[in-house]
Amino acid sequence: MATLTLTLKDPARIAVDVLVVAVAPGTGGPRLLDDDALPSELRSLLARGARGLGITGETGTVHRVPSAGHVAAPVIALVGVGEQSGALDHETLRRAAGSATRQLTGVRSIGLALPAKDAEQVAAVAEGALLGAYEYTRYRETPETDRPAETIELVTARARDNAAKRAVARATVLADAVHRVRDLVNASPLDLFPAAFADAARAAVKGTKVKVNVLDEKALAAGGYGGLVAVGQGSSRPPRLVKLTWAPSRPVQSVALVGKGITFDSGGLSIKPAKGMETMKSDMAGAAAVLHTVVAAAALELPVKVTGWLCLAENMPSGTAQRPSDVITQRGGTTVEVLNTDAEGRLVLADGLVAACEEKPDAVVDIATLTGAQMVALGSRVSAVMGSEDVRGAVVEAAGRSGEQFWPMPLPTELRASLKSQVADLANIGDRFGGMLVAGLFLQEFVGSTPWAHLDIAGPSFNEGGAHDYTPVGGTGVGVRTLLQLLESYATR
Ligand code: BES
Ligand code: MN
Ligand code: ZN
Repeated sequence: MATLTLTLKDPARIAVDVLVVAVAPGTGGPRLLDDDALPSELRSLLARGARGLGITGETGTVHRVPSAGHVAAPVIALVGVGEQSGALDHETLRRAAGSATRQLTGVRSIGLALPAKDAEQVAAVAEGALLGAYEYTRYRETPETDRPAETIELVTARARDNAAKRAVARATVLADAVHRVRDLVNASPLDLFPAAFADAARAAVKGTKVKVNVLDEKALAAGGYGGLVAVGQGSSRPPRLVKLTWAPSRPVQSVALVGKGITFDSGGLSIKPAKGMETMKSDMAGAAAVLHTVVAAAALELPVKVTGWLCLAENMPSGTAQRPSDVITQRGGTTVEVLNTDAEGRLVLADGLVAACEEKPDAVVDIATLTGAQMVALGSRVSAVMGSEDVRGAVVEAAGRSGEQFWPMPLPTELRASLKSQVADLANIGDRFGGMLVAGLFLQEFVGSTPWAHLDIAGPSFNEGGAHDYTPVGGTGVGVRTLLQLLESYATR
């Protein structure tokens, strides 16, 4: 990952390959946001050339122009922030910084002369910049011209302030966590199967104070984890339940995080059509987010006890696969009639939720690529959150602060009836309409009285469109920022 440092230097004097300034659309042509960042001759050159250069100030645009010796950096990049009235909000800053670092490839160093007047603005710019500078190199080297910068210098008068320094340290931990989640989601499911994911979890916590405990298929059967066993039994690569623990010396609260980790979702015997399978390597994005949120919480020494539960299985059809009509027994004894093997996420999560709640945490939050209905309801950029009013509200609040989009959704009790089974306590599918809410109601059966929220990130976890702002194509790492912010909010409860 790129290294980001703060500097008090005059932007005109920093020795970087590209110096970034912000530009917004204005009445007499686009206007530079930070008046003092550039020498006046250069400013008037840019003002006169803006139209000819096609510089509009539109959100996300990046134009590179030679600085012609007016500043130390040989190139100036103008990043558009869109129409602005008054101070830029934090997400606008994150996106501008991320648009710049994502698009300014093929250079070693970038200087950022973006608005960074206080520690919160420094945090936003640093987060966006680091999130945008991502590349995925597991299966091929990035061509030099597409490689993100290695060093980023952020100009701010607050460079010596402890609050600003802490903001950079936090942004670095956070972006590192998001990058690692993207890496896991982008991995080929040939390589990332449940045992390999458990190994990746062990590797990720090495050298940290996070404890890890892995249950293999025998331990899962012995422990009554019927959902994980049933979903995993069709694959030649057996399921795992990974428990992670960050236990600070004097925790003020305890939070359990449960992640759906289907390393590939073929649907099982209720097999998906080919198109529907194309993105199903990403069906473990919830578990990946949980893993790296716990690691980040430990790195930041949050005074909250955090347990992470990764529910890992590969959902495959075979002679040993579960059948539609099989009745399974979840951890804790609830019986479930599996009418559709493609509704597998809720089966592995139910076991994870029961195990998590046995330890009586102050709150439990699950995160999952759970339903196609989430995408029907909210599209590919807005995630859903359901559950107890208190925790759901805390998640929405945390998401807003972190710059992720989570929208509150209800759990209508009248839909619960559709989950009735003729033979078991519950069926694993119900009404097709409101499918996301029905999945939430299913999960609700397994949390008892523990305050709980359920996050459905089906669409936002994997970007099938073009890259935008600080978000690349493929795995996005969604959820980490909200979960970390949520844990921080529990630290001050
Ligand atoms: N992993 C899928 C949900 C999904 C779909 C995530 C598209 C991301 C993109 C989940 O396991 C699934 O197949 N859900 C079914 C449930 C249905 C059978 C009740 C669905 O949404 O169609
Ligand atoms: Mn499925
Ligand atoms: Zn799935």
